[in-house]
Amino acid sequence: MESLATVVLAAGKGTRMKSGLIKVLHPAAGLPMIAWPVAAARGAGSDAIVLVIGHQASAVQGAFRGAADIRCAMQEEQLGTGHAVACALETLTGFRGTVLILCGDTPLLRAETLRSILAYHRENKAAITVLTALMDDPFGYGRVVRDPAGRVNRIVEQKDATEEEREIREINSGIYCMDSGFLFNNINDINNNNAQGEYYLTDLLSIAVQKGLTCLALPTADADEIMGVNDRVQLAEAGRILRGRINREHMLNGVTLIDPETTYIDHGVTIGADTVIHPGCQIGGGSVIGSGCEIEGAVSISDCRIGDDCHIKAASVLESSELGEDVAVGPMAHLRPGTVLGKKVKIGNFVETKKIVMGEGSKASHLTYLGDAEIGRDVNIGCGTITCNYDGVNKHRTVIGDGVFIGSDVQLVAPVSVGRNSLVAAGTTVTVDVPPDSLALSRVPQVNKEGWRLKKKP
Ligand code: UD1
Ligand code: CA
Repeated sequence: MESLATVVLAAGKGTRMKSGLIKVLHPAAGLPMIAWPVAAARGAGSDAIVLVIGHQASAVQGAFRGAADIRCAMQEEQLGTGHAVACALETLTGFRGTVLILCGDTPLLRAETLRSILAYHRENKAAITVLTALMDDPFGYGRVVRDPAGRVNRIVEQKDATEEEREIREINSGIYCMDSGFLFNNINDINNNNAQGEYYLTDLLSIAVQKGLTCLALPTADADEIMGVNDRVQLAEAGRILRGRINREHMLNGVTLIDPETTYIDHGVTIGADTVIHPGCQIGGGSVIGSGCEIEGAVSISDCRIGDDCHIKAASVLESSELGEDVAVGPMAHLRPGTVLGKKVKIGNFVETKKIVMGEGSKASHLTYLGDAEIGRDVNIGCGTITCNYDGVNKHRTVIGDGVFIGSDVQLVAPVSVGRNSLVAAGTTVTVDVPPDSLALSRVPQVNKEGWRLKKKP
């Protein structure tokens, strides 16, 4: 297999986004936009990927920290796409093979499409092959000018095109395959004599034609795929298409999405078969969801591991948490980071948890805050229970043993522990450790003043 290197152009700011954040880092379906063409390049077999960066260079670099196949090339001043590729070539010295050139703002590009242009380019031993598309409204794109025999002659930019050339509907996608020898030998012959005073990468096509080398254009079947995102309208449109693809894949894998149009599943989420997801859910952060689960409407799940047969009821929010099998959560529960729930745990409405471990079969059915706690098996936490974990300076732990029954309206003032099998009576404020098998009770004795109300009446 011939080697493949990829150059991704991403030095521009993306002014039309009207954003403090560089365009290619705006997220689309859970990934920074530029991560999509990078993934497509990897999927097409690229060993080395060079990102041409300029604006917010360190932020772009940071998005790929730890990726061994990514290198970055600085383009200090954006003098045009030809200049950008020239900057990248310094990091590819000595490379022999095919160079794939992509833009960082085309999140819809798929690996299959890159594989087909690569195969076409290599079969025909071309010097340069450009991916094109037929557009009903080609405004703004470079147009592909062909000779009377239909052979590619050159690409002309919108701003340089004649009236007649502007009628051409075949446009340049900005995606190319080039032979490395051709690219290295000719990149420095591009000049900036054009309407924008830029070094146009597209000039390499006419250079190839003039030298009698093979220069090809492959029209893509799906014009959506090469859509470049320039503003937030297009970003939303790209997100919609990406989500459609993700949802389709889950459905084909056996997941029921009641309404795919309103189900927002990010890249990198795994869901088992026979799980049913109701409208309005948002699932992301690489979550893994088991099979046979039911996820009711308007649930938000991020960075969670959820076992089989769980039931997440409406409007619950789950963050960085781990759930065993057959767990029920919600409605309107909030599992904050570090929540670990064993098999058959039940968390009811208006319960908030944070950094807790809860053993098999334990329940907190209503209106409770459990934070920084270690809770055993078969524990019942009554309505209105609060772990008072914060003294204003430090966080403290609460430990509750197996089989404990905590009555309603109990405050556990941490650090404190309740030994296994004990009962804490309703309304108790626990401030000292409770030994196992005990009753803990702290109540102010009740006073009844008979006839009191009658005396108050005028
Ligand atoms: C370019 C093509 C055009 C094509 C269109 C497809 C040229 C001359 N024109 O036009 O034929 O139809 O893409 O979307 O190539 N970039 C840099 N450094 C630079 C200039 C650009 O990194 O100095 C990056 C941008 O960040 C962007 C990409 O290259 O990701 C394309 O640049 P842009 O200015 O958007 O080119 P277009 O005018 O759209
Ligand atoms: Ca563009």
